Amino acid sequence: MTVTIAREGSIAVVTVDNPPVNALSQALRQALVEAVVELDADATVKAVVLICAGRTFIAGADVSEFGKPPRPPHLPDVVAAIEGAKKPWVAAIHGSALGGGLEVALGCAYRVAVSSASLGLPEVKLGIIPGAGGTVRLPRLIGAAAAVDLVTGGSPVGAKRAEGLGLVDVVIDGDLRAGSMAFAEGIAEKSLPQPISSRAVPAAEAGFWESAEKAVAAKAKREIAPLRALASIRKACETDFAEAMAFERETFLALRGSEQAAALRHVFFAERAAPRPPELAGITPRDIRSAAVIGGGTMGAGIAAALRDAGLPVVLIERDATAVERGLANVKAIYDGSVKRGRLTQAVADQRMAGVAGGDDYGLLADTDLVIEAVFEDLAVKRAVFETLSAVCRVDAVLATNTSYLDPGAISDGIAHPERFLGLHFFSPAHVMKLLEIVPTETTAPEVLAASFALARQLAKIPVRAGICDGFIGNRILKVTRAQAERLLLSGATPSAVDAAMRAFGLPMGPFEAQDLGGLDIAAFQRKAARERGETPFAPVAERLCALQRFGQKTGGGWYDYQPGDRAPKPSETVAAIIAEEAADRPQRAWSEAEIADAILLPMVNEATRILAERVALRAADIDLVKIHGYGFPRWRGGPMHYAEARGLADVVAVLDRLAAEGLAEAPSEGLRRAAAAGGFSALER
Ligand code: 3HC
Ligand code: NAI
Repeated sequence: MTVTIAREGSIAVVTVDNPPVNALSQALRQALVEAVVELDADATVKAVVLICAGRTFIAGADVSEFGKPPRPPHLPDVVAAIEGAKKPWVAAIHGSALGGGLEVALGCAYRVAVSSASLGLPEVKLGIIPGAGGTVRLPRLIGAAAAVDLVTGGSPVGAKRAEGLGLVDVVIDGDLRAGSMAFAEGIAEKSLPQPISSRAVPAAEAGFWESAEKAVAAKAKREIAPLRALASIRKACETDFAEAMAFERETFLALRGSEQAAALRHVFFAERAAPRPPELAGITPRDIRSAAVIGGGTMGAGIAAALRDAGLPVVLIERDATAVERGLANVKAIYDGSVKRGRLTQAVADQRMAGVAGGDDYGLLADTDLVIEAVFEDLAVKRAVFETLSAVCRVDAVLATNTSYLDPGAISDGIAHPERFLGLHFFSPAHVMKLLEIVPTETTAPEVLAASFALARQLAKIPVRAGICDGFIGNRILKVTRAQAERLLLSGATPSAVDAAMRAFGLPMGPFEAQDLGGLDIAAFQRKAARERGETPFAPVAERLCALQRFGQKTGGGWYDYQPGDRAPKPSETVAAIIAEEAADRPQRAWSEAEIADAILLPMVNEATRILAERVALRAADIDLVKIHGYGFPRWRGGPMHYAEARGLADVVAVLDRLAAEGLAEAPSEGLRRAAAAGGFSALER
């Protein structure tokens, strides 16, 4: 039963129970309309409390229905039915009232909420706009400016703030059901408040819409939904209710079928599936209540902060007392930054910092549940660390390496109880970046793997399982990105043209700007290691820049020149001359932005498909999550694999074939041809 009705005196309690999040399925919409009819007809009922079972109030429309034709009763009609009820309905909110859930609450005569509840219209994050009156009723209730913030940003607000905005009438302390019943009794005899739909919208100040449009456009970049949401709110403020509702619905339905909405839905479900991989179903994770980090450099300090932010006590081990001081100072610098940016209060930062104990004595780790190593990227140094850890830590402690490129199997070779070991690859800055690559070795126990997924959830990170290979999933694809970018330089494109094309595609930065920011030396070091393994990495121009000590912004020049104190890249004559020399006997051609993007992205897809075929990634959607959360791939493109599928894999193969014929990319892999023939990557997800 999705809806049950109980009567207590003159108050009816309508309880929605549609696990897991009370999404507004067709059955629930139907049941709500029927509840209105039934309670309107019941003369003993004076007021109605709408409350939800489980962890949350109605969390929105059922996103899984979005790919299908809408079925009646449509949500705007359900909200209208509740708003038109003869008895006052009181929405009693706990958990999240999101999207359609908040729209249902806006149909109610009153809204009450527990203080932990949050309310919002996150539709723009799914590439759509509210479709059941959100953009039309909200400005009538809280004014245009607050409505614009809530709807175009998509972030929810807490109950207290919602009360301040007038979105919630009362914040209930204690039991929600009892509190909302008491509230309902208090209003039962009063006359019904004016429905939101017939309230006037306060006029916006002169110039308000123009400046809102500029601000929203700047933030949304190429995402279309936020500006459409703004247009819908504006319409709601400038026409009557019925016309505004029609405009909103039309926009909602058009966007629902858009490419961006499909991509964002794909990411939504991929993110929710990521923490619970089906292959680990039923496995009980090892408990992690305390943690340690070895190495307090860039990564170690960030990982320590991430662990503290999730509430775990942390021990930070460094080489000697001076290094311990430096490591703790690195963690403190992170918290100082958060306080400066207003993200944390000084008191919270102090409390987080107080939970980090520094030391150079491994004896401190005798009872620690999880140890993450983030020392130099050097096999011998890492092996020595794990030899010590394997002697001092509990046999059931989880031991992890944050290596970027080394083989975790080689790092752990010979340690006692290797089943407790695996790779946990964080991304820099580790307390900010959402991605966590989880890299089991051949011997990692399932409950250790499961513990890592549980840890990711606790750290609010997106976990992706990766197999062992050079660079795992993300950095292996990054190598292709960079090699392709250089190939383009040798065939007629400039660094600025390549960067501009990738920004136009939606990346925050192009590959050359990104290398100048991060430093060219790290990749040079990787290429040296690859050559020692007998590989032949392709980076003729980068090698020459490194030989000139042009490592990027930090040395005043890399792919671009930089003036002291200025981060703006300036095209470099030195670089142009090197490119010209390296390109001397290669055919040159003109490149459009779209061709540049293809020549970089489609080889990335080709490599990603190999990664999938080799089972280094288990699902194409996991690769999308890696690129979105670790490398800034535009979310609204859905990740490289979704992008390739949406574009058509046959086309991807055809373009790659053409590039390969010109010597500008590798030919499509056998796996990619197979996926193209089958119509999707699921053919490779055995
Ligand atoms: N539709 C369908 N399924 C949904 C859903 C939705 N709106 N929201 C969550 N789910 C599913 C998830 O896929 C997941 O399924 P699984 O167990 O099979 O993997 C399950 O519910 C639990 O989700 P979470 O893991 O995210 O649970 P949390 O407790 O961590 O978070 C939440 C709960 C805050 C409600 C979070 O799920 C969330 O933010 N959901 C999205 C809400 C949303 O975007 N609503 C707007 C929808 S669009 C809309 O309403 C249009 C309207 O204007 C017409
Ligand atoms: P870093 O050089 O900033 O820090 C390394 C720290 O380890 C130093 O503070 C050093 O004193 C300490 N250390 C060295 N040997 C030690 C030992 N035996 N015991 C205790 N501490 C020791 O290096 P960074 O950038 O933090 O990298 C650490 C690891 O993380 C490397 O394996 C690297 O490949 C990996 N990584 C780096 C990323 C990055 O963007 N910097 C991203 C993801 C992983």
